[in-house]
Amino acid sequence: MKLDIFSLFPEAFDWFRSQRSVQNAIAEGNELRLFNYRDTTPLGAGQVDDAPYGGGAGMVLRVDVVDAALQAVYANGERPRVVLLSPTGRLLDDELADELTQEPHVALLCGRYEGFDERVHEHFADDEVSIGRYVLAGGELPAMVLADVVMRKLPGALGHERSAVEESFSQVLEGAPEYPHYTRPPVYRGWDVPDVLLSGDHERVRLWRAEQSRARAEQLEKGPE
Ligand code: ADE
Repeated sequence: MKLDIFSLFPEAFDWFRSQRSVQNAIAEGNELRLFNYRDTTPLGAGQVDDAPYGGGAGMVLRVDVVDAALQAVYANGERPRVVLLSPTGRLLDDELADELTQEPHVALLCGRYEGFDERVHEHFADDEVSIGRYVLAGGELPAMVLADVVMRKLPGALGHERSAVEESFSQVLEGAPEYPHYTRPPVYRGWDVPDVLLSGDHERVRLWRAEQSRARAEQLEKGPE
């Protein structure tokens, strides 16, 4: 898959790009590219935003600036699925992540300030995605969250093929949270590891994990006490 991210702060993704799962995905032939709207702005002095018509606080990312960035990068006629990060978009979950992982080419648009001129939403975005009903200072963290959840699902990203298949909210676990994990020591400050995990009985372990996963799903369903 080819994942392109458009942002005013592409350097914010340096840490993300260095993560093992991302590096593994890239080694498998996937691509992660970053673009700065400012590099292709048609306006003088690197301008990318403007005051809102009608007045009000904050600045708005201009539609011509976003258009120029997309045209510069996709001059060869490529047409990725364009996803705009917005607090009012479709809530990101494992199902949406699976859907996006199937796409050969996705572009993420990160906004800043008061957001994008509405014509960007209308004419350039195929989808709008939110990582939760709260407002962040920009789309960079949401884009990183989305890129992380999508890229770690790509074959080879985790090194360990089963890891992403059998984890919380996956289809294998019927959308339920994952079961608890334990490692050494077997007893710590009197807190012990469930006997079944030390039994060596794979079938009992499997059943115990399925039960734990179901119980956690019920707990989630109930919500906080
Ligand atoms: N931009 C600002 N807040 C956001 C959120 N919660 N989700 C996606 N994009 C955003």
